[in-house]
Amino acid sequence: VPIYIMVAIAAYFLGCFNGAVIVSKYILRNDIRNHGSGNAGLTNFYRVFGGGLTFVVILCDVLKAVLAVLIGSGLFGLCLENAVLGKYWAGLFCLLGHMFPCMFGFKGGKGILSGGTIAIMIDWRVALVVWGGFLVLAALTRWVSLGSCWAGASFPFATWFVYHDTVLLALSILIGGLILWKHRANMGRMLKGEESKLSFHKKKEG
Ligand code: G3P
Repeated sequence: VPIYIMVAIAAYFLGCFNGAVIVSKYILRNDIRNHGSGNAGLTNFYRVFGGGLTFVVILCDVLKAVLAVLIGSGLFGLCLENAVLGKYWAGLFCLLGHMFPCMFGFKGGKGILSGGTIAIMIDWRVALVVWGGFLVLAALTRWVSLGSCWAGASFPFATWFVYHDTVLLALSILIGGLILWKHRANMGRMLKGEESKLSFHKKKEG
């Protein structure tokens, strides 16, 4: 049991290092959560600020997720001989930290970049399903959030097809469910056709 708690705490606090919040608040001195969709994530950071600092956001969210999963798989592998369970367990708590960071008023992101990194760290087949659909849908519609909803919804299915394990399925449903729940406002906007589309053109500040 202590191993579960230790990994959960470590992964949660790593997850709290939300790249969009840290870069906007401490480097740009302009909290991303007051702009655009209000979300503390890569999409909104790029939408609002663009530019090279976007790569710092990516680096932060990718590295913290990699580290969390490595800790989970390492410790669970050593103590329980179940590295895969450790990846899902650490992934879940890393996402909770990213979405609800305690040091930033529990207002974080929607877990796509961190979640996508966790999927890559879990298994290439899971990553292929989640990322493949995400990229196709986002590219075709320019709604990043539609790709994100695919990622959240397909994650449990991909997990089941690869592992046939009910505990992993339950954890993947929690992870996918958190992602979908975080996108509920995006879903409403997509249904009304009002969701903002990703654009790579230089925007004029207005
Ligand atoms: O990365 C999150 C994305 O799916 C949606 O973000 O800012 O458009 O709500 P946003």
